[in-house]
Amino acid sequence: MLRVENIDTYIGGSHIIQGLSLSVEKGGAVCILGRNGVGKTTTLRTIMGLTPPRSGRILIEGEETTKLPPHKIARRGVAYVPAERHIFPDLTVEENLILAERPSDRADAWTIDRVYGYFPVLSSRRRQDGTTLSGGEQQMLCIARALMGNPKIMLLDEPSQGLSPLLVKTVVQIVRRLFKESELTLLLVEQNFRIALQLAKKHYLMGTKSKIQAIVSSEEIMKDEEIIKRHLSL
Ligand SMILES: Nc1ncnc2c1ncn2[C@@H]1O[C@H](COP(=O)(O)OP(=O)(O)OP(=O)(O)O)[C@@H](O)[C@H]1O
Ligand SMILES: [Mg+2]
Repeated sequence: MLRVENIDTYIGGSHIIQGLSLSVEKGGAVCILGRNGVGKTTTLRTIMGLTPPRSGRILIEGEETTKLPPHKIARRGVAYVPAERHIFPDLTVEENLILAERPSDRADAWTIDRVYGYFPVLSSRRRQDGTTLSGGEQQMLCIARALMGNPKIMLLDEPSQGLSPLLVKTVVQIVRRLFKESELTLLLVEQNFRIALQLAKKHYLMGTKSKIQAIVSSEEIMKDEEIIKRHLSL
């Protein structure tokens, strides 16, 4: 589904992503685990075309997207859900969703009713201004809005950021069910390996300057949690 080959990304003269490669299979669920500032968000932004790489290649379903602008990458089926929640102001929850709709002729296409089925709280608040939702509800709205574009792969940046443990649990449960029951591919970014374990099967352990220290499975982490500490000194 996604292949990143030896990319280098610079932000204002700083070499942030240095020779990063990774891949995500169709229907797979992969996580990038790493501490603050290692380049996780920049990796997602680079894939999305927001901070294009200076060298290397990015391929979606085998076709190169390296130099495409973000809206064209979105049209290839990539959805990006940033950690900061950007709700369109002065629009209701439902309007936020409708605005993001990109119909698909796939049999398993997302409709607003199917999305509400996963996020009942959004349905009950559909007439409310989106910016008046709680943090957890706003996170759900951002994920729901991404689904309305009928993506093939979702880039999900720290969905737990700024949420209380109880809300994290709710969001994680919904996202987990969502990916289990759909064909959607996931590339997740997390600092919390317990959340990563619930959502992804394969984990790239990212150290400073985006260096991949190891690639481990959820089983390997569950057998030996110290494996993360050894590679990332978390
Ligand atoms: N707009 C910017 N201008 C300058 N430096 C930046 C910019 N955005 C990111 N950086 C730097 O790039 C590095 C990687 O940032 P990035 O946001 O990708 O890290 P991250 O792994 O997502 O961190 P966090 O876990 O805190 O979200 C950091 O050192 C950061 O300071
Ligand atoms: Mg980040």
